[in-house]
Amino acid sequence: MLHIWGAREAFICDEHFSIVHNGGIAFEENVDKILAVGEYDTLCSQFPNAKMQFFPQGVLLPALINAHIHFEFGAHFAQFCYGDFGTWLDSLMDSRDEVLHIQNTYFESILTQGINEQINAGVGSVGAVSSYGYDMSALALSPLRVVYFNEAIGSNPSAIDFLYANMLERLNNAKNLSSPTFTPAIALHSPYSLHPIMAQKLIDIAAKDKLPLSTHFLESAHEREWLTQNSGYFKTFFQRFFHIENPQSFYSPQSFLDMLSPLRDTPLSLTHCLHIKEEEAKSIESLQASIITCPRSNRLLNNAFFSRSHLHNKQIPLALGTDGKSSNNNVNLLDELRVSLYAYPQEDILALAKSLLLSATLYGAKALGLNNGTLSEGKNVDFAIFEFSQPLFYPNQSRPNQSPLQFILHAKTPSHLYINAKAVL
Ligand code: BEZ
Ligand code: FE2
Repeated sequence: MLHIWGAREAFICDEHFSIVHNGGIAFEENVDKILAVGEYDTLCSQFPNAKMQFFPQGVLLPALINAHIHFEFGAHFAQFCYGDFGTWLDSLMDSRDEVLHIQNTYFESILTQGINEQINAGVGSVGAVSSYGYDMSALALSPLRVVYFNEAIGSNPSAIDFLYANMLERLNNAKNLSSPTFTPAIALHSPYSLHPIMAQKLIDIAAKDKLPLSTHFLESAHEREWLTQNSGYFKTFFQRFFHIENPQSFYSPQSFLDMLSPLRDTPLSLTHCLHIKEEEAKSIESLQASIITCPRSNRLLNNAFFSRSHLHNKQIPLALGTDGKSSNNNVNLLDELRVSLYAYPQEDILALAKSLLLSATLYGAKALGLNNGTLSEGKNVDFAIFEFSQPLFYPNQSRPNQSPLQFILHAKTPSHLYINAKAVL
């Protein structure tokens, strides 16, 4: 059975942010490939036997992509201290046992809640960073399209063999669950927390098996100080928690990026990058990597938003994520879009709205290596329809079409969501 879905506004989410007024898409039921995109009436005459649905006050757009989320640690409520990355990390270390206990007790319902929060915000794909693998099977069974980043952490050389074996076991389990909606991937926690021997082995695996790889990078001023001067918060962190008398950083910002150079042809993403400078931005561009920004998390932990001037006029794709509940009040990507809109008051508001929607679609797909995030022939059938009580734009008026901006302001939950050519909502 062929389907045609159309709406008053179709956000194609290509580089130019094309909008098709009375636009639609055609696809075959359960075949995960868009057949055609264009004007709804034209599609209806092209495929006269299709099942047709049109939403006169709706917006049709690709299902959104939350490029960076931690589902584990979802149990948190108000345990962590915000306003400085060091204070936050200390509070995380202090309440780790308590948080893990709550986590284990309510784990199933917390995970289901996190997954439902994605679907109810119109998110079809996630870049899920997992520290332990506890969320693996639930995510593989969920309707979401998941790039599952098994995360490696560990700076202590004596623990590396154990940690690396554990990481390989999680990665193998994820490989066994591979499907069109579940892609195994690798996350390096960060330059301050991962020994280079383990980092190098994992980069080699990602390059050989063409796995997406993601890492947190220069999230805090403390991290920059540690990587460039071997001093500051992280020096005392390693002394206090690891009892190392004279700790040394494993990398400089540049040597960490240089280590990633075998990954030019695989999906590579760096999350946060709040404290990159021009030289790091240039290296990130030459790595053909994406940056993922998590604005609310950045404000809460580091009192800053990502500097969009580092994108070199969009030469570096910028994807959007919520991060996890330990650094956010919820994991709703629509709320993240709304906050982002207020975070850059110096930018033209309509141009910013379009750019942000591309971060939540097209550039999310680029960061995660997915074949979705834009409505075009051959892409996965991952789309959402949002309906509004009034149309978002009246085309016969001589005003610019601000529907992307109105969408960000007013979108609450989609009335329909398709992932992998299947109706989820
Ligand atoms: C570690 O596990 O070695 C580590 C964790 C957090 C910060 C730094 C190091
Ligand atoms: Fe994160």
